[in-house]
Amino acid sequence: METSEAKTFLDDVINGLSSAQKQLSPKYFYDEFGAEIFERICTTPEYYPTRTETMILRNNVSEIAQRIGPNATLIEYGSGALEKVKIILEALESPNALVPLDISKEQLMVAAKKIRTEFPHLNVFPISGDFTKPVKLPKELLNAEKQVAFFPGSTIGNFEKEDAIDFLKSVRATVGENGLMLIGVDLQKNRDTILKAYDDEAGVTSEFNKNILIRINRELGGNFNLNKFEHVVTYNEEHHRVEMHLMSLAVQTVCIAGINFHFDLHETIHTENCYKYTHQSLSRLVEAAGFFPADFWTDSRNLFTVVLLTSKFRQNF
Ligand code: AVJ
Repeated sequence: METSEAKTFLDDVINGLSSAQKQLSPKYFYDEFGAEIFERICTTPEYYPTRTETMILRNNVSEIAQRIGPNATLIEYGSGALEKVKIILEALESPNALVPLDISKEQLMVAAKKIRTEFPHLNVFPISGDFTKPVKLPKELLNAEKQVAFFPGSTIGNFEKEDAIDFLKSVRATVGENGLMLIGVDLQKNRDTILKAYDDEAGVTSEFNKNILIRINRELGGNFNLNKFEHVVTYNEEHHRVEMHLMSLAVQTVCIAGINFHFDLHETIHTENCYKYTHQSLSRLVEAAGFFPADFWTDSRNLFTVVLLTSKFRQNF
C-alpha cells in the first residue's frame, strides 16, 4: 500500500478498536489474500448469492442487453474477478468501454489484463481504490453516450441505509440523466439459509473474516493471536442483516503500532453487516437516491434479485 493508504488503514483500525463496540470496515477484507479467499467463498455450497445472481443474469441477458442498448460504457463498482460483467458484455451490441473499479489492485490488474484478451475491441480503463469515494472517469469517457453502472454481488448490503443512499446518489450523478444502473441484491429469506451462507462447513468464511487480523499483523505490526479469536455469525431480525464478528476467546491485550487494545472474554469485533432487502424496501431505497426501479429479475426461489434502475426524472424509458 502507498503511505497515505497505510496511514488511513492505521487510523481506521485505531478508531474502530477504540469504540465501545469494536469494529473494522469490511472494505479492509480485500487485500490480495482476502480477494482470493472471497473467490473461494463464492464456490462453497452454502454461499448461494454468486451462483444465483449469475444464473439470473444468464437467463435474462438478452432482455437486459436490449434495455441497455448499443455503445454502452459499463462502470463496474467492486469488479473483483470480472466474471459477471462478461455475461453482459457478450450480449451487448458494440459495447464502448469498461471501467472496472476495485479496492484490490492486484486482482484488478490481473482481471483487466484477462478481459482485454477476451474482448480485444473493448476499451478497458481499470481504476483501483475505494469506489465509495467520488471516481474520476477517464476524459475519453466523459461524453460517452450511455453510461451504465454495474453493481452486482449485493455489495450494497454492506452499507448502512444513509450511506447506501449517498452512494446511489453519487452513482446517479456519475451516469447522468440518461444513465442506468444494474444492481444485484440479496433478498430476505429464512434465517437458516442466510446464516449457513456466512458460516460454511469448510470454514472458508471464517478464514476470510480472520484474514483482516492477519493483515493488521502484517501491515500495521499487530500481534493478534489467531487462535484466540473465533468467527461468529448472527442474523439481526430487526435490521434484516447478517452480522459477522470476531470473538475473543480470552481476556487479552493486543498491541498494534505501539497501542494496546484490551479484550474481555467473548468481546467481539464487528467486521461486517450484510443487509437483506425485499423488492419493496429496495425500491424505497433507490427512489430516495433519484432512481426508478424499471425491471426486476429474480430466480424461481426468490433468493436474489437483479434490478435495472433508470433516472427517476426520465420519461419514456
Ligand atoms: C461482497 C459484500 C456481497 O455480503 O455476501 C461474503 C461479502 N462476507 N461472505 C456478502 C461476504 C462474507 C459479500 N459481499
